[in-house]
Amino acid sequence: MKNIDGLFMRLAAIWFLAGVAFGIGMAASHDHGMFPVHAHINLLGWVSMSIFAAFYRAWPKAAAATLARWHFWLYVPAHFVMMVALALLYRGVSAIEPLAAVASIVVALGVVCFAVLVWQQTAPAAREQRAHIPEGAGVAGGGAPN
Ligand code: HEM
Ligand code: HEM
Repeated sequence: MKNIDGLFMRLAAIWFLAGVAFGIGMAASHDHGMFPVHAHINLLGWVSMSIFAAFYRAWPKAAAATLARWHFWLYVPAHFVMMVALALLYRGVSAIEPLAAVASIVVALGVVCFAVLVWQQTAPAAREQRAHIPEGAGVAGGGAPN
């Protein structure tokens, strides 16, 4: 998927802004009741998405895989829906719980796609095929002088 690293990094920055604003709002109001929403905005949004961005930047072949597209389009919208549903849930709208549940399962499916891609692309055989890695470089446990 074209520019998936840049897209994830931009989304991460947006979620970072939202998470920090949310945190300051909670601290200022002395109402910490929504802290799980704040935590998952920051951790599933800012932290996880910036790690995704770094991964796709470091493994461009992973970024080009069809599974990367699945990862992006399952994870990003579902995480947004999950955060909105969770906020409503913690505001007492208990009828929203099934939506939060479905959204979090879709987020998890996105994570499965990511995990499979990581597994495929970081296998020793896949690493050796990467043209810009000199032979022998980047091999786990390597680097010790002979
Ligand atoms: C200016 C920035 C931030 C402010 C003002 C802020 C504020 C808060 C507040 C008031 C709580 C509730 C504490 C409680 O009642 O237990 C909280 C919880 C939490 N925040 Fe933040 N936060 C900020 C940034 C972040 C960032 C960047 C992250 C993650 C990368 C983060 C992760 C968490 C987590 C995981 C919790 C839940 C902790 C627990 O389980 O008790 N926060 N934050
Ligand atoms: C679909 C994915 C996820 C689901 C459904 C989920 C669900 C939950 C639930 C139900 C809680 C307890 C909330 C409460 O105290 O009432 C929780 C807490 C927590 N989760 Fe997650 N989680 C997910 C992903 C993650 C990820 C990826 C991270 C870290 C990178 C994370 C970090 C935390 C932390 C630090 C807490 C304790 C703070 C809090 O209660 O909000 N979670 N999570």
